[in-house]
Amino acid sequence: MHLFKKKNKIEKSLTNQVFGRNIVHMHVCDSTNEAAKRQSDMPHGTLFIADMQTNGKGRSGKSWESEKNCGIYMSLLLKPEMSTVDVSQITLVAAVAICRALEANTQIKWPNDIVIGTKKVCGILTEKTGDAVICGIGINVNTRAFPEEIWNIATSLYIETGKKHNRDYICAKVMNEFEELYDIFRTQGFGAIRDEYASLCTTLDKEVRLIRNNEEITAYAYGISENGELLIETEEGQFFVRSGEVSVRGIYGYV
Ligand code: BTN
Repeated sequence: MHLFKKKNKIEKSLTNQVFGRNIVHMHVCDSTNEAAKRQSDMPHGTLFIADMQTNGKGRSGKSWESEKNCGIYMSLLLKPEMSTVDVSQITLVAAVAICRALEANTQIKWPNDIVIGTKKVCGILTEKTGDAVICGIGINVNTRAFPEEIWNIATSLYIETGKKHNRDYICAKVMNEFEELYDIFRTQGFGAIRDEYASLCTTLDKEVRLIRNNEEITAYAYGISENGELLIETEEGQFFVRSGEVSVRGIYGYV
């Protein structure tokens, strides 16, 4: 009964055709990305969503705080037509969709952290398995407090706005926006979304620290390429960096 209700609550706010029209809702799971991998034979656009995760995964082997009913923990199963699809670009597309959907003062810390001010409100973990791509999205919605290790870099919509937000409605809005942007991406490439991405990107027009292995350099971030790379300038000239190759930090902190 409960499972049926959750699906209906999300469906009510869907205005699209495909993304989230097929929903696998779990009260508890290890990680919605792992659940999607296990059922990657489900149709394109299937959404795996859980009330809590026991082993929520972040990028770079980190874990993702997944307290019960506080956040949105979901993974969208995609079956891109081209096998050569650039997974990191799908993540950038998702980031724009989430900013559109959240209706808060969100920005993107390149490549795919969604921040409000200097704190992270959402993370995206996109993974490829066979022909399928799994776009995992974690949004801190009604979280009231974070563990000590991350309180200074994490925030939630509740903390920022002082009110509770409807997770089903937000989830549906992300699906609506993501489908619209994914169609543009699929037919015209990331270049068609680049300007919107750049306008949301808080990393641009500032000095940033780039960390690769244990090396750190300072550079001026001046743009986003047609492919979603970060364009930087150092004393040695102009370069681009691909997501996954480096970590980017602000001069004084995380953003
Ligand atoms: C990051 O480190 O910024 C990425 C965090 C991604 C978290 C989401 S929550 C839903 C999905 N399932 C997971 O195990 N991880 C992603």
